[in-house]
Amino acid sequence: MLALNLSAQTSATRTFQVKADQVYGEIAPTMYGIFFEDINLGADGGIYAELVKNRSFEFDTPLMGWKELKKNDTEGSLLMINTGVEGKANPRFIRLTSKTNNGTYGLSNEGFRGMGIKKGEQYNFSVLARQQGTGSVPLTVRLVNAKGEEIGTGKVTPAGNEWKKYEVSLTATATEPKAQLQLLAQGTGTVDLDMISLFPKNTWKQRPNGMRADMVQLLADLKPGFLRFPGGCIVEGRTLAERFQWKKTIGPIEDRETLVNRWNTEFKHRHTPDYFQTFGLGFFEYFQLAEDIGAAPLPILNCGMACQFNTGEVVPLDQLDPYVQDALDLIEFANGPVDSPWGKIRAQMGHPAPFNMKYLGVGNEQWGEQYVERYKVFEKALRAKYPEVKLITTTGPFPDGPEFEYLNKTMRSLNADIIDEHYYRAPEWFQQNATRYDAYDRKGPKIFAGEYAAQTVAIASPDNKNNWRGALSEAAFMTGLERNADVVVMASYAPLFAHEEGWQWTPDMIWVNNLQSYGTPNYYVQKLFSTNVGTHLVPIQRNNVNVTGQDSLFASASLDRKTNEVILKVVNTSRQAQEGEFVLEGVKSTQSKGTVQKLRSNNLEQMNSFANPTAISPVQQQVQVKNKRVKLALEPYSVNVIRVKVTPNPGQYSKNTK
Ligand code: AHR
Repeated sequence: MLALNLSAQTSATRTFQVKADQVYGEIAPTMYGIFFEDINLGADGGIYAELVKNRSFEFDTPLMGWKELKKNDTEGSLLMINTGVEGKANPRFIRLTSKTNNGTYGLSNEGFRGMGIKKGEQYNFSVLARQQGTGSVPLTVRLVNAKGEEIGTGKVTPAGNEWKKYEVSLTATATEPKAQLQLLAQGTGTVDLDMISLFPKNTWKQRPNGMRADMVQLLADLKPGFLRFPGGCIVEGRTLAERFQWKKTIGPIEDRETLVNRWNTEFKHRHTPDYFQTFGLGFFEYFQLAEDIGAAPLPILNCGMACQFNTGEVVPLDQLDPYVQDALDLIEFANGPVDSPWGKIRAQMGHPAPFNMKYLGVGNEQWGEQYVERYKVFEKALRAKYPEVKLITTTGPFPDGPEFEYLNKTMRSLNADIIDEHYYRAPEWFQQNATRYDAYDRKGPKIFAGEYAAQTVAIASPDNKNNWRGALSEAAFMTGLERNADVVVMASYAPLFAHEEGWQWTPDMIWVNNLQSYGTPNYYVQKLFSTNVGTHLVPIQRNNVNVTGQDSLFASASLDRKTNEVILKVVNTSRQAQEGEFVLEGVKSTQSKGTVQKLRSNNLEQMNSFANPTAISPVQQQVQVKNKRVKLALEPYSVNVIRVKVTPNPGQYSKNTK
């Protein structure tokens, strides 16, 4: 009933002129990308498909996630052994002594809020083990459901006194969101265990120990221009000791040092004491993921400053060298020849070809003079050795105010390549700021809208929602990003993932549980823009004025010169339907039919959910094109993407192009 009323209130026709022969800039292929951070169980417990929590006993509480299984105290014992208090990546292992032949003594692991197990699928179990003394203690490996009933089983038999990897594949007999893993000793004896691991066989590209396929697929579907990694504040760490260090995230996974996740205790209202980083998704896997989904890699590195919302520790300037060296070495790891020290390691990990990294962020969301001093040191060293790599520099956490003004001015005076701006703001801000970049200096640094999301209640409030109000406002704003794509060369929504039982920050683009994942309305806005991006900018105007919110309408237009299409994005943020007429000027002819993809809801509070994951998702229809005109009802609260094939005027592509 509401829908009928709203649609019925159509107003006078709005005529839009699309000046398809007046190209005023190019759209960078990187334009719409992805921001990835291990927040909200984004990596461990999320896209990194490991199902065992604390597999190497390296959490601060070594048995966190584990439980001893026994009928009584005489059945056996556990001993936590630490072999390297000083400087070893994975010093702990567990010694299990079984004194019973009943098969009742052992260990269980609870997973990340349980383990998501799917009927008929295979799960690969592995463990590093060695026997103490003679004989052997076979281990039954069991998957059990929430009631403790078996839903999969296998067996490994550690033998000998040297560490060795043992593996077995289990087939699940039932689907279960809250499964647990059990290891039960069959016989008496003592066995040492470490790196106890369980992965689905069916990972992204079937890579052993890889990524959750459903989550990567949602990313691939965005056809992203870039992949920012690893964040976010996680780059900085609460303290410098807890910063993200890429060199500790490559090589064999048993040699990657576990580190507390800085989101573990960040928000009192969302404490996550079991949140650690195992770095199974490390820098090699990151580059591989970017390559898989066709995104340009865009790493952000620590610049010698810990998170300024936490300790704000800084490294003295005369001790910055190791940080700068890390940046230089990362470029070599990504791009260097196979006979260079770091290129060789990349090749040994399975990727002799370079990853073609062209961008590097220096610091995440720093502010103040301390940042400028440190940035200058990085800049000097990086430009000297790798002048071809574009550097990304930050303007801090806010899109305005003294800190922003200071860094914006300073970075411009330093001729920065690309300036990263962040905006976590109310939905209204996004609509009001659709013109933000209209007056930016066309000859100055390019802009990376590196983190943004409409906060429906307040910044990082746990009550924020991924509702249509926020997403629609972001769409309105994004027409402004796109209209200014000659200046704005990259943009990414943040954060990316959230686990429904393990999140710290909301809103987020994609929500997951142990078995499912879905895109929010914000995801579908991103997808509409990133899969309809075009190559060149052309004006779309009403009465010779850009469409930036007049009558609650926002618009951008581009040409795709690869497919000869005109692409229009039109957002109606009002509760009224508006009749639109789009006049395609400056083309020789058009096809008689085009398409429109509509994303809309009459209810601004509407969200997607596990039960209804596509409540708000695009619907595609045909549109008629008559006399180079498209007529379209712009429904209330709607995002519309129109594509029309055109024949350009002769010689048009050689004109007006940068
Ligand atoms: O996206 C969540 C956080 O917001 C990021 O880690 C940080 O860069 C920003 O403050």
